[in-house]
Amino acid sequence: MVAVEIKPCVYWAGVNDRSTELFEGLWPIQDVGVSYNSYIIADEKVALIDLVKGIKTDDFLTQIEEIVELTNIDYVIINHMEPDHTGIIKIFLKMVPNITFVGTEKTKQMLEDYYQISTNFMAVKTGDRLNLGNHTLVFYETPFVHWPETMVTWEEQSKILFSCDAFGGFGALRGSIFDDEYDDLGFYIEEALRYYANIVAKFSRFVLKAIDALRNLEIEIIAPSHGLIWRNPKKIIDLYQKWARYASEPAEKGITLIYGSMYGNTEKMMNAIIQGASKSGLPIQVFDVARTDVSYILPFLWKYQGVIIGAPTYETKLFPPMTYVLTMAEYKRIFNKKVARFGSYGWSGGAQRDVETQLEKLKWELTEVFEFQGGPTTTDLAKGEEFGKRFAKLLKDVS
Ligand SMILES: Cc1cc2nc3c(=O)[nH]c(=O)nc-3n(C[C@H](O)[C@H](O)[C@H](O)COP(=O)(O)O)c2cc1C
Ligand SMILES: [Fe+2]
Ligand SMILES: [Fe+2]
Repeated sequence: MVAVEIKPCVYWAGVNDRSTELFEGLWPIQDVGVSYNSYIIADEKVALIDLVKGIKTDDFLTQIEEIVELTNIDYVIINHMEPDHTGIIKIFLKMVPNITFVGTEKTKQMLEDYYQISTNFMAVKTGDRLNLGNHTLVFYETPFVHWPETMVTWEEQSKILFSCDAFGGFGALRGSIFDDEYDDLGFYIEEALRYYANIVAKFSRFVLKAIDALRNLEIEIIAPSHGLIWRNPKKIIDLYQKWARYASEPAEKGITLIYGSMYGNTEKMMNAIIQGASKSGLPIQVFDVARTDVSYILPFLWKYQGVIIGAPTYETKLFPPMTYVLTMAEYKRIFNKKVARFGSYGWSGGAQRDVETQLEKLKWELTEVFEFQGGPTTTDLAKGEEFGKRFAKLLKDVS
């Protein structure tokens, strides 16, 4: 893409990544991509805000050179040290040997640890200012959104908040870089929630702290380092705030039904259960845990209050893909759910014991269990329908 002016002298100069299959080596993005947004403020002094992952370096540098000569860049603001924003830093230093990197004290140490860079650094803390001419950068430390060294940068003249990972999302930019140039933001919001549940969720407490600390800033534009630039900043702030609150407050009324089945017995019961549950009118999202990457399941576990777990016994334990999903939910600190569990077993069972161990760690409230041996009978299926109905009603009735 070509550089895009956001405000006078302020440019987007990011890279759309459509070739990485797994973000962080874990989260599938091969279908949607991701962007690494970098920004240029070309004033008397020139600052670059965040770099990009170490891909398409030529394109990135060419894009910058549309606006400024590389050797005229004075500062690179490192809001966050994670390599998706610093991947080309070594090359950059070689090309612009007089550059000054700006970041928190912790970033200084990390630059040494990750890149063996121990020169050209200026440490800043909350409230520190850096004048570029007509523009002034103000820094705010936002630890753990998403690493301990993270900060955000506010530019006083243009009233842009360069928020790095905060307010970001998966999904390469599909043309326009601005939220208000799309009629339908559905794709970006869905991918922002997936990004939130996969990457940011564990740090929700820190997200709320950061939002609170930035409350008094007059923000006209939010320019994160992944995804859209928000000229309606309230939209994405409200969404992030809402999602962050789900860490400690009840989420939306709805059910994520996660199931796995080797020979279709648990699956048959799953169908009976959703028949019962769907009568409530509550939204229900169904995932086969063996076939769906956990990346897509976590957003629904995050946003819905109710979870139904359907899984058989496997070698005296819980069906392994289900163990993985529940373990990831624990990593992401997806707590405070109401849950019901069902599943088939062949002889002595064992899955339920495993489920209970996992639920203890998750602090999920187990409301009901329905296990059956082998294939479900007609009576079992009728019981399943009632089980689904009861669970949905219970969710509907909680305030
Ligand atoms: C590889 C494998 C391991 C199993 N291990 C156990 C077990 O340890 N204990 C048990 O009670 N049933 C065990 N079973 C039986 C299944 O739990 C049973 O067949 C159940 O109906 C499977 O439900 P599904 O059709 O939904 O996969 C095992 C089945 C398979 C295929
Ligand atoms: Fe990050
Ligand atoms: Fe990032």
